[in-house]
Amino acid sequence: MRRLRGRSVMRITVYGATGAFGARLVDLLRSRDHEVIPAHRGNGVDTYTGEGVAEAADGSDALVDCVNRLTTKPRKAIDFFSRSTQSIARAAAEYPGTAVACLSIAFRPEAAESRLLGYYQGKAMQERIYRRLLPEERLLMFRSAQWFELVDTMTIAAGPVRFVPKMRVQALAVAEAVRMMADSIDAGERGTVEVAGPQISDFAAIARLLAARRAQNAGTKPAKVIGIPLPGPTARDGLIPPAPRMSAVTVDEWLRSV
Ligand SMILES: NC(=O)c1ccc[n+]([C@@H]2O[C@H](COP(=O)([O-])OP(=O)(O)OC[C@H]3O[C@@H](n4cnc5c(N)ncnc54)[C@H](OP(=O)(O)O)[C@@H]3O)[C@@H](O)[C@H]2O)c1
Repeated sequence: MRRLRGRSVMRITVYGATGAFGARLVDLLRSRDHEVIPAHRGNGVDTYTGEGVAEAADGSDALVDCVNRLTTKPRKAIDFFSRSTQSIARAAAEYPGTAVACLSIAFRPEAAESRLLGYYQGKAMQERIYRRLLPEERLLMFRSAQWFELVDTMTIAAGPVRFVPKMRVQALAVAEAVRMMADSIDAGERGTVEVAGPQISDFAAIARLLAARRAQNAGTKPAKVIGIPLPGPTARDGLIPPAPRMSAVTVDEWLRSV
């Protein structure tokens, strides 16, 4: 850590630097004068095999974990997040002054127990491993609610029809989650921070608004969005954080940037 223009600036390694979140975080941290080491497979860092992970951490004040593997299969999610998390936590153990910020999801325990949500089992494992391997004073568990942008990832298109899971969410824009995590890192926060959007809504309803906005931009008819009911915790409060820090950006405001 050093001082620049009256501010503390850090050297920060971002694992998952090419991802939807990681690429934005790299840009924002650099714009705040931090020195950023982007880490991903394209530059020889593989968190799953461990290759290059410790080297990328050398000399950094903070390591940010925003790697991802998209899967609905619990076994694949647990395997990926277990191995990746252990690689990064082991690298942190080699450099005792280094803090770790893990990007996780603000789900309640029952969501990780649902058979329909296998991915969350991997994220729950990731959180457990970090908490086991790193002392509290070196760990920031940054748990974000779903992003508006996740609608596209979770949409199945069939001709003019879009199938989207019906889930109760308190979604926010990814850019807002990035800003709030950068603020947390800048402030040197540790422990658990949860962030969410300003409104609780249905994921399929957000998908309908997005389809309408895109149709308006293109001067076409909106795609028909069909919400697929998911039984269990996502229909209740399984994805709603109890007392999150809230972004002020509503879905309508976000849609203006689409
Ligand atoms: N989507 C949401 O609504 C949401 C909400 C809250 C939290 N999150 C969390 O946010 C995190 C990031 O999600 P995202 O959507 O930004 O992910 P993404 O766009 O899928 O990007 C994944 C990143 O991980 C890297 N990666 C994958 N496998 C790797 C490996 N073996 N070694 C090194 N790097 C690897 C990828 O880099 P290369 O492929 O270039 O190696 C890429 O930079 C996830 O952990 C997710 O759980 C998501």
